[in-house]
Amino acid sequence: KQIALVMGGYTGESVVSEKSAAVVAQHLDKDRFEVHKIHIYPNNWYLEEEDGTKLPLDLNGFFVVKNGKKLTFDGVFNIIHGSPGEDGKLVGYFDMLGIPYTTCDALTSSITMNKAYTKKIVSEIPDLHVAKSVQLFANKPGLANELLEELRLPIFVKPNNGGSSIGMSKVKSAEELSHALDLAFKEDTQVMVEEFVSGREFSIGIYKTNGKIMVLPSTEIISSKEFFDFEAKYQPGVSEEITPGRMDERDAVQVKKIAENVYQTLNCKGAVRMDYFLETKTDKFYFIEINTVPGQTETSLISQQVKAVGMSLKTFYTELIEEMWR
Ligand code: DAL
Ligand code: MG
Repeated sequence: KQIALVMGGYTGESVVSEKSAAVVAQHLDKDRFEVHKIHIYPNNWYLEEEDGTKLPLDLNGFFVVKNGKKLTFDGVFNIIHGSPGEDGKLVGYFDMLGIPYTTCDALTSSITMNKAYTKKIVSEIPDLHVAKSVQLFANKPGLANELLEELRLPIFVKPNNGGSSIGMSKVKSAEELSHALDLAFKEDTQVMVEEFVSGREFSIGIYKTNGKIMVLPSTEIISSKEFFDFEAKYQPGVSEEITPGRMDERDAVQVKKIAENVYQTLNCKGAVRMDYFLETKTDKFYFIEINTVPGQTETSLISQQVKAVGMSLKTFYTELIEEMWR
């Protein structure tokens, strides 16, 4: 079968995507799948051959012409973090062409790309809490002071459709807030400001195989930075990551149930990753966000979790691919 491994994207996360793609390409089962590297950048969609030759994609049908012959794909392994891979745009195009893909459908992708809308949906899930937040659609003078009447410091300021913590700040004083808002609005037209939850941070991978939802063990994240920012995420050694994370059996069972419920409620497909806090005082679970195209670099959390259950990445990727044709 011909697999298009689709990487790159239109955001600052394209560098992460290229790294994830390299890992996926390395581990894909070459006996079953023929892998084609497809790079998607603004006005530049191309297939990269083994020797580095670039063949342009025909976007009328998502194919390339190679040695005078048309090469089409049986499915897409989507590894673009952020737009257009994770926000529903690209998969909407594949739906129009009838090409299967490994990730969530367009509706789920576009909702989950928006942290504020996703919180509204998952707040209905039993035993899953959400931190108090405000969704902003525009910046304006005096906004910081208005927000401080409603929210308690410290607060997180997040570009609402962002990823990898780009443009995000943790604000501990009133003075910092205006600057943090400016920074976030540079990245996005929508911004979410959210109260800080004092607790330990975890992340849990969830995927589907043979139609059944599977939950991986949680990873605990201990960042030496103020929060799990871009550097802490991708520079080895800046954060400590423990898989499975430290939590008692009761909490582990409960979060597994919550994770299944989140996956089902949002109608997810493929491998997704939910980030959450376990609040120190109350032992309650707080939802942070869900990533529908989570990082798959060698040190990424999902890769660590797959290895922790004794599964090879090769088996994991095969299951994700087989599932898209079910
Ligand atoms: N957005 C990054 C790639 C992640 O969630 O892993
Ligand atoms: Mg995250």
